Amino acid sequence: MSDKPVIFVLNGPNLNLLGLREPEIYGSDTLDDIAGKLEDRAQELGVDVEVRQSNHEGHLIDWIHEAQGDNAKAILLNAAGFTHTSVALHDAIKAVSVPVIEVHLSNPHAREAFRHKSYVGEAAKGTISGFGAFSYLLALDAAMQL
Ligand code: DQA
Repeated sequence: MSDKPVIFVLNGPNLNLLGLREPEIYGSDTLDDIAGKLEDRAQELGVDVEVRQSNHEGHLIDWIHEAQGDNAKAILLNAAGFTHTSVALHDAIKAVSVPVIEVHLSNPHAREAFRHKSYVGEAAKGTISGFGAFSYLLALDAAMQL
């Protein structure tokens, strides 16, 4: 195991379909493409990234707890649809001292009203949204400033 600081990058439901899923909204990069870009940038920054995806809310919660146990420097969290519904994710973010940066490819505030509420954003350190795959890279740079 490397002794570099680690940043968890957690992705929620349907993000395994990136590249195929509504590309006019989410772009043509797959999650693997985004992970590759994050790994390249992380190497330049001297950190490790641990990129994961799950369609299950409980996995995301367990991984937030794991990030705390592993003393992660930060968590970049794209909770996808759970962003707008999950009190449990809000509570998990509040329960750990690892700073969480909310990430979205699209800008939820410019979309349907049901996306304007973010339980994640109300607990997160900050939010980066609307820049497509680049949102993740901006969030990684932001995490390095914390
Ligand atoms: C998303 C925005 C959410 O509203 C949506 O449910 C997603 C993706 C984004 O990255 O733009 O699944 O989190």
